[in-house]
Amino acid sequence: MRIEKNEDKCSECMLCVRDCVMGVWRVVDGKSTPEDIDLCNCCSHCIAVCPCDAISHDHLKKEQISVVNRINLNPDVYRDIVSSRRSTRQFKNQPVPREMIERILDLARYAPTASNNQNVGYIVITDKRLIEETAGKIFGLGKFLYNKTKNGIGRLLVNMTGLVNNRYLKVMDYAQEQNTQNGRDFILHNAPVLILIHAPKRTAFASDNCNIAATTIINYAHALGLGTCYIGFMTMALQYSGKLRKKLGVPENRRIYASLVMGYPAYRYANTVSKKNPEVQWL
Ligand SMILES: Cc1cc2nc3c(=O)[nH]c(=O)nc-3n(C[C@H](O)[C@H](O)[C@H](O)COP(=O)(O)O)c2cc1C
Repeated sequence: MRIEKNEDKCSECMLCVRDCVMGVWRVVDGKSTPEDIDLCNCCSHCIAVCPCDAISHDHLKKEQISVVNRINLNPDVYRDIVSSRRSTRQFKNQPVPREMIERILDLARYAPTASNNQNVGYIVITDKRLIEETAGKIFGLGKFLYNKTKNGIGRLLVNMTGLVNNRYLKVMDYAQEQNTQNGRDFILHNAPVLILIHAPKRTAFASDNCNIAATTIINYAHALGLGTCYIGFMTMALQYSGKLRKKLGVPENRRIYASLVMGYPAYRYANTVSKKNPEVQWL
């Protein structure tokens, strides 16, 4: 790795030294100097903070770095994007252009990752038949388990554990009826796109990295006029079913930590929603 400073351009403002969390940039003989280069985690902060464009780094793509346009950083717009996003469960029967999905995943690169390890990957499924089949398998398993709770030991267990009041169990009769009569898919919501978000197994903060990327995706997709919905059932099914992981091409060394469906919403929400006030302790 090579990190260099253009002495002619540098004003010795020392922002690179103040900002470098890995201690790569240090003051040597009164000048900012890249010292312990092997410690660098390639976060680009030194280049981002430098007002003189004096730093070059051979592991970073200079063409990806641009001047921040502060006029676009409108907090009211951001607030509206976040507060008006809803989980979309009714989609138009219309595919999402691949370039649009690429644009969204491209933005998710900017989401933070632990130690800047940038280890988040995606499986994007747009094959409608595969999505339908996957939803059918998960729903089928749900039906199987639900039917087990109707009598015998299953009934006893749900009564004893209080699961009898679980709202997902309670809705199953209606869901089955709707599924049979109208083809309504209660798992992947008849969506045209399914995105599985993965990171290496057993790696610190892998789930955090994936879910922060997922949040970036859902908000940007919403701003672009798309609807998304987190699908915990999908993530859970993939955790337990090796067959499903294989079918959906999940690499052996990776785990799916978040699943999203995406598509053009069938309708828009005219209003925002009511959410609980958070529990906050001030110290
Ligand atoms: C981790 C997680 C898992 C979720 N799993 C599902 C799911 O499997 N199916 C579904 O329809 N919605 C799922 N949701 C969406 C929530 O039900 C939804 O966010 C919540 O009801 C609030 O609605 P809103 O997103 O419109 O504000 C999930 C959300 C999260 C954050």
